[in-house]
Amino acid sequence: MSALLLYCSTDGQTKKIMTQIANELRQHGHDCDVRDLTSVQQSLNLSAYNKVLVGASIRYGYFNKALDKFITRHLAQLNSMPSAFFGVNLTARKAEKNTPETNAYMRKFLDKTPWKPTLTGVFAGALFYPRYKWIDRVMIQLIMKMTKGETDPTKEIEYTDWNKVSEFATHFAKIE
Ligand SMILES: Cc1cc2nc3c(=O)[nH]c(=O)nc-3n(C[C@H](O)[C@H](O)[C@H](O)COP(=O)(O)O)c2cc1C
Repeated sequence: MSALLLYCSTDGQTKKIMTQIANELRQHGHDCDVRDLTSVQQSLNLSAYNKVLVGASIRYGYFNKALDKFITRHLAQLNSMPSAFFGVNLTARKAEKNTPETNAYMRKFLDKTPWKPTLTGVFAGALFYPRYKWIDRVMIQLIMKMTKGETDPTKEIEYTDWNKVSEFATHFAKIE
């Protein structure tokens, strides 16, 4: 079984999640090709794989533009094979916002996209204040303050639930 795993990741958390999923899929006997979606648009041949997984993070309310471009270009193929999508954002750190149905970014995306993934998931990302440039740090502090989250600019916190990532990988391994 071969799987193409594509990620859009700015600070590395979505890539880290995808890497864990790839490791687990390999244990389930899958051959995994893991690639950065922002740099492979031209050369992809989806029909060379049995299934496709895409993961992308939210930045200021939006997924990377490369996601929409990829979907538009490969829509027919995507909808004719087993496929999955997961989103990563900080809103999903809250229990009541951590499913595709209850996470606003996921709902908006899934409502609009013509792609019909077989499986969807959403994971809480990470907060790396010291790594952000000044303007991003201030903006994230503001968002976190409004949503009653961490505002200490010295903190680095990973909210990702790795058991949930593992369960998602197991589900993905089973889709056909
Ligand atoms: C500049 C910036 C903007 C962000 N905007 C949002 C946002 O609008 N909503 C949200 O829930 N999370 C937001 N996040 C949190 C990211 O989705 C989270 O940090 C995630 O782990 C990033 O994944 P990546 O490292 O793969 O890009 C933002 C993070 C940064 C640094």
